[in-house]
Amino acid sequence: MCRSLFLRAIACSVFIVVTASIAPSAPPQASIPTQIPGQNAILMGAAWYPEQWPESRWEEDLRLMEAADLKVVRIAEFAWSRMEPSQGHYDFDWLERAIELAAKHHIVSVLGTPTATPPAWLTQKYPDTLRIEADGQRVTHGNRAHASASSPRYREFCRRIAEQMALRFGHNPNVVGWQIDNEYGYAQMSYDDVTRRQFQDWLQAKYKTLNNLNARWTTSYWSQTYDNWEEIPIPVGAHNPGLMLDWKRFVTYTWTSYQQNQIDTIRQHAEARQFITGNLMGFFDGFDHYPITAPLTFASWDDYVGTGHVDPAYNGLSHDLTRGFKRQNFWVMETQPGAVNWSSLNNFLNRGEARAMAWQAIGHGADDVNYWQWRSALNGQEEIHGVLVGPDGTPVPFYNEVAQTAHEFAKVESAFRDTAPLSEVALLYSYDSHWAIQFQKHTEKYDDLALLKSYYSALRHLSQSLDVVSPYSSLENYKLVAAPSLNVLPKDLADHLLEYVRNGGHLVLGPRSGMKDEFNALLPQRQPGYLVDALGARVEQYYALEKDVPLAGAWGEGQAAIWAEQLGSLTPGTEVLMKYGKSNGWLDGQPAIVTRPFGKGRITYIGAVLDDKLMAAAADWALQKSGVTPAFGPLPDGVEVTRRVGPGKQVFILINFSQGNLRVNLPHTMNLALDGTPAARVDLPPYGVSVAVDTRQ
Ligand code: GLA
Repeated sequence: MCRSLFLRAIACSVFIVVTASIAPSAPPQASIPTQIPGQNAILMGAAWYPEQWPESRWEEDLRLMEAADLKVVRIAEFAWSRMEPSQGHYDFDWLERAIELAAKHHIVSVLGTPTATPPAWLTQKYPDTLRIEADGQRVTHGNRAHASASSPRYREFCRRIAEQMALRFGHNPNVVGWQIDNEYGYAQMSYDDVTRRQFQDWLQAKYKTLNNLNARWTTSYWSQTYDNWEEIPIPVGAHNPGLMLDWKRFVTYTWTSYQQNQIDTIRQHAEARQFITGNLMGFFDGFDHYPITAPLTFASWDDYVGTGHVDPAYNGLSHDLTRGFKRQNFWVMETQPGAVNWSSLNNFLNRGEARAMAWQAIGHGADDVNYWQWRSALNGQEEIHGVLVGPDGTPVPFYNEVAQTAHEFAKVESAFRDTAPLSEVALLYSYDSHWAIQFQKHTEKYDDLALLKSYYSALRHLSQSLDVVSPYSSLENYKLVAAPSLNVLPKDLADHLLEYVRNGGHLVLGPRSGMKDEFNALLPQRQPGYLVDALGARVEQYYALEKDVPLAGAWGEGQAAIWAEQLGSLTPGTEVLMKYGKSNGWLDGQPAIVTRPFGKGRITYIGAVLDDKLMAAAADWALQKSGVTPAFGPLPDGVEVTRRVGPGKQVFILINFSQGNLRVNLPHTMNLALDGTPAARVDLPPYGVSVAVDTRQ
């Protein structure tokens, strides 16, 4: 348990204790691959497209970037037709000049491989490289993400352009790293014969025999039995749940191997110091992000709000999800310069909001934040997207907010050197479970991501630091692990979780947990499946709710909504914490939430979607029961605190996301890095940010 990580551990109420002195005895990571040697620990940058502008303009762009303290450009990710104007004829001289000029302005480059935008000569000469949509239509050239990720021919073209880029820039001192593709084609697949055969081969490699596949998918149901691998379709629309889940895994496999093709090529020619990342999209669920990020140096994501304003809890959760992919710091490869162009209402972020978002990213473990984009192309699909520089080439008002934030990053960067978030609490997120629930929601209101967010908000509010990790992660450093929707819970995973509990961990399971095996088949046990014995209770029956159901017990009174499970205790040692009130007759007076000590730890099962008040009570109870200490201490509502921990220091970022002025009392005097003064309290206006450095041991 993480007790050993702290000089002193205080296990008492999270409401009363102030524990900012819990300085860790060791840094959380041996090294931080997101921090580039020789560069500031935290960086800001922009997506720059020199290929769209006359070369005579570049110097002015870079001068303006340098004046704003932008230190990174991401370039080339859509420039294939410029880098390979005709098949096998490469032109990288312009790119090299752009990189050199950027370096003259103290700006390093991240090179994107341009494989999201194959040029017209390629797709027209080799139309089989274009995707076929689910309706059988071949995609026409002219947009992006139009190629088939499973086409061997397309992959060979991708390999060649990545190889040529790596040969040319793999030793360039001003190229710090690589981004593979761009957002991985949003996981779009080609519904063609090549892909279908690959899917069938993938299934054969997995199941070995058709008998096995037929048994796992229960294909005797609706006469789905397959006698030949070639009979198995790509699922379009509702299908066998086992087939649908395997298709998602095959999509993951396709994009992971598509990525690996380029990683292998780049690694062959590039210096090891150059990182390789990919720009992901938060909770985008087209593929499983844990395998796809495994071979990357670190994960990155594109943080866009779209319509409306930043929801700090959802945005924080998305950062924490990304940090959890590889359990290390990450980059925000793109974020919105005020407004986007693709949402229903492309409103502008309020003045100060983007700065708050940039600091929030740092607090949650980002070491770089890049705006998309520097300047809009004069034509093309994104003419009226937000930018830092207008079509006339001079800064728009938003540029000043970015410059202010980047100056702040540059001023206090050393405080963040070798620091990363450190949490005592983890939430488990599983793509398998997410997809399994999405396939069979049972009530359209069931939203496993909303449930995750409700657990996150309640637990984070009190613990002030939270990790989001794969259920298969090693969990021994957490005092509390909550799995709000662990629907797919095969035996190996159950064993892993039981080991955590046996060794002293507290596992909290939410509704619909432990229902399915890895083939998306129902487990022959009741929920929570292989954990029934340890819990000493099981789900007798579940109900999609038409209306809210009252709950009462140890956590007070409240309501269950959307989903309720009637639990039954099997052992006297299982404590019933909450019961349902009058409802549909079946639930009346029945257990809703139970807990049981097991090994050195504890398992708790919450069989309903709780209202906010009960969720807060649940979080308070679970954190206290597990001895979790808050990262900072008491805070006014509306202020988010994040903590990054490094050798001999912890750094807190305080952000006021409310619309009023708020005062925060620090647990003791700390150095306010942005002001350069020590203080015991800080006043934050709306969107106000403070960076408090604690070096007290
Ligand atoms: C995505 C893409 C960018 C750009 C932005 C616009 O994140 O990666 O190329 O299109 O959206 O918001």
